[in-house]
Amino acid sequence: MDEVTQIRERIDLVSFISEYIPLKKMGRNFKAICPFHNEKTPSFIVSPERQIWHCFGGCSKGGDVYTFLMEYEHLEFIEALRILAKKTGIHLRESGFQEGLSSKKEIIYKLDKLAMEFYHYVLTSHKAGKKALTYLKKERKLDERLIETFMIGFSPKDGVDLSNYLINKKKYKKEDLVEAGLAFYGRGPSTSSGQASVLDFFRNRVMFPLFDHRGNITGFSGRAIEEPYSGGKYINTRDTLVYHKGSMFFGLNTAKEEIKKLDKAIIVEGELDVISCFSIGVKNAVAVKGTALTDDQVALIARFTNNICLCFDKDDAGYEATKRSLPSLEKKGINITTCIFDQAKDADEAIKNDPAAFKKAIKKDIPVYDYLITKTFSAFEKDRVYGKRKIAQELLPIFIRISNEIVKEHYLKKLGRELDVSLDALAKEAEKIEKKEVVKEDVFISKKDKRSRIEVLEDYLMSLLVQHDNPKMILERSLAILRDYKFEIDSYQKIISELADYFKSNSKFDSRYFLNLLPKELTATFDKAYLFPIPSFGEDKKHAEEVEKVARELRALFLKNKIKEISDNLRKGEKDEDLKKVNDLEKELSSTINLLGKS
Ligand code: GTP
Ligand code: MN
Repeated sequence: MDEVTQIRERIDLVSFISEYIPLKKMGRNFKAICPFHNEKTPSFIVSPERQIWHCFGGCSKGGDVYTFLMEYEHLEFIEALRILAKKTGIHLRESGFQEGLSSKKEIIYKLDKLAMEFYHYVLTSHKAGKKALTYLKKERKLDERLIETFMIGFSPKDGVDLSNYLINKKKYKKEDLVEAGLAFYGRGPSTSSGQASVLDFFRNRVMFPLFDHRGNITGFSGRAIEEPYSGGKYINTRDTLVYHKGSMFFGLNTAKEEIKKLDKAIIVEGELDVISCFSIGVKNAVAVKGTALTDDQVALIARFTNNICLCFDKDDAGYEATKRSLPSLEKKGINITTCIFDQAKDADEAIKNDPAAFKKAIKKDIPVYDYLITKTFSAFEKDRVYGKRKIAQELLPIFIRISNEIVKEHYLKKLGRELDVSLDALAKEAEKIEKKEVVKEDVFISKKDKRSRIEVLEDYLMSLLVQHDNPKMILERSLAILRDYKFEIDSYQKIISELADYFKSNSKFDSRYFLNLLPKELTATFDKAYLFPIPSFGEDKKHAEEVEKVARELRALFLKNKIKEISDNLRKGEKDEDLKKVNDLEKELSSTINLLGKS
């Protein structure tokens, strides 16, 4: 057995995926809200027997433990393999899998690490970093310990030093620097060797390395220290192979253990908010870096805790970011709070003003919805009709998205009380909003399905068949109904005849054994049918009845199509005055109509 297979066999897919998303048992399979596209009803299915997963919703992704990890963490196969090898304790011997033989991503990680060390050295030990060091120590009150912990650095003003260092000293290629987002092509001063035609991306900025939660350096954010800021107060590494805007947090690598321990994460806006929190011992804070939380970020943080305290800036942008973060958090069923501190624009300032008060505010965080109520009621007059409307308009769309029904009702009731309107009125308004927003998704036979009814029924029949406890009996019964039916989906026709062959020599169905016999090109189709979410029937009898119902409908559709075809030919025969043909076709037509009547 090769290592890839060995590792796959060591891992139980259901418990592995459970570490990432909550799975619910459904019949022989498990289901979940798909993590790879937006949906409201779960269509992500995992099979414990087959150790595979598939999404039957919008994204149609599927595979095994490797593909799941690759999709979920944006990894290449080799990276996923290494992580799983480590997890299972299996040593990778094949040379292609070994550390050191580097993919593009690894080159970027290495470059970023060298850049981090370079910037850090400039800040802490070189005269070019003196001014920045003074700024950090005097104005931002950072001490050496913090500068070390977060490996803060400085990018020199010249704008060629890093590139020259990496190219001349470390022998990296220009294009790798550019691909890492550390440099760009420009008309810089040429050296004798003609090397420096790339320029440093960051110049004259305090540099914060951006680590992923595994501790890889994926990029940087750089804060300007001299006004006027050219290019913005902060700039980040552009999207590269390893840096994806909106899918990481600043500080997660240092905070994740504390987040797990306290079972809570504090989300702040900026790098310096995180660092200030850390400096007073609040070590479970991470930064979104000035935007609302994205689905990716929520999925990432939800792996460490279900309790999140939003602690954004106390300005309009921060308030908006708080509101915009809620749908993603609710979708994951996260418990959301916020902390109240006044007279400070953000966590960093609050900590500078009064660290003890800030710590207290963090301890006494309140449910975010209570905060929104207070805030909205203070902005409008709740005793006037116009004010009531405005308040409802602001809060209802937020409250109806609360995933926990008890919590939702609590806030709807509270809103009703405070506005002095009935829950009924609120519910009606909420319904209007919901109608506008909710696109109904149906995992089962969906009307908006672009596939023909026949194809949809064939999918369903195939799944009913292979998911029954006794496929042999079910196959016999459906073939008795279908008779000369030919599947429109060719691979189903093939699987059906393979199954029929299989049951000639086996009475019990073993899906793994059957798959070994099945031609490889049919595996994916079979797996899909095996995972397709079918209703749970409770008893085998009901399941069998459903199979027969579907088979009968298919047979009827098949006959109807046949009748249409014969009629078309008949008309043609009549036009051509081909009497023999007309005669034959008329006979065939009446016998087919007869069959349809009986079916
Ligand atoms: P400091 O003075 O450095 O503490 O920043 P601030 O707290 O005044 O910054 P602000 O609240 O405006 O920004 C919070 C976070 O948003 C920063 O830490 C950055 O991560 C991000 N940010 C701020 N300005 C910019 C910008 O111009 N571009 C980008 N890409 N991000 C920014
Ligand atoms: Mn701020």
